[in-house]
Amino acid sequence: MKLDSVVPWGRSFEEYCSIFALSEGDLQKRLLGCGDGPASFNAELTQRCGNIVSVDPVYQFSVEQIRSRIDEVYPQIMSQMEQNADSYIWESIKDVSELGRVRTAAMQQFLSDYDSGKEAGRYIAASLPVLPFEDQQFELAICSHFLFLYSEHFDLEQHIQSMIELCRVASEVRVYPLISLEGTVSKHLSAVTSALESEGIQTSLEPVEYQFQKGATEMLVVSAA
Ligand SMILES: C[S@@+](CC[C@H](N)C(=O)[O-])C[C@H]1O[C@@H](n2cnc3c(N)ncnc32)[C@H](O)[C@@H]1O
Repeated sequence: MKLDSVVPWGRSFEEYCSIFALSEGDLQKRLLGCGDGPASFNAELTQRCGNIVSVDPVYQFSVEQIRSRIDEVYPQIMSQMEQNADSYIWESIKDVSELGRVRTAAMQQFLSDYDSGKEAGRYIAASLPVLPFEDQQFELAICSHFLFLYSEHFDLEQHIQSMIELCRVASEVRVYPLISLEGTVSKHLSAVTSALESEGIQTSLEPVEYQFQKGATEMLVVSAA
């Protein structure tokens, strides 16, 4: 991975809880955040005494490198959001400037936690479809805004292998959103669920409370145990 191909953009703890319907019980599980990037979920859950590991290829870079890449791409992302504002539901986040404040706060929290989290083994540099973890090391794996969203960049076989790998390391897996960057249901979704079912892995599509990108109304829940 080259840093100049990365667009770091991270969500907050509240957004993750709403996206994945995380209960108090879920927050006490051994959690894996896959593709967490500069989201603040790990930092905030750790402050609440949770048990979380995040894995993302961007963690091969230093805090200074990630911070300067965030500063570089931030104006571009904000201008794209302005142009595509009609593709989003502006309710819990009222407008593009509030979005900027929420995302900046989340990424600042991540950056402040990153060095100590790396030292503690909470931020691990690795990439799907191969993860450096033991079988069933985690009780719940969550994957926000990577699988299915990047359906044009990550092919069907990579999606299937990634889901099988997540099921190897965690007894339950939740993935959101199921639409691609184009805003329509991922072309890989039905083939991925069929492949998992044929391996004896149960899948279900569940509605989510979280609403932001139009059409992103469901998460995939996979019970691997
Ligand atoms: C749009 S960001 C989402 C960040 C965070 N999950 C959130 O929802 O705020 C996508 C993340 O996927 C990560 N990523 C890219 N390729 C990956 C791979 N092969 N395995 C795991 N994560 C990957 C990127 O580095 C980036 O941090």
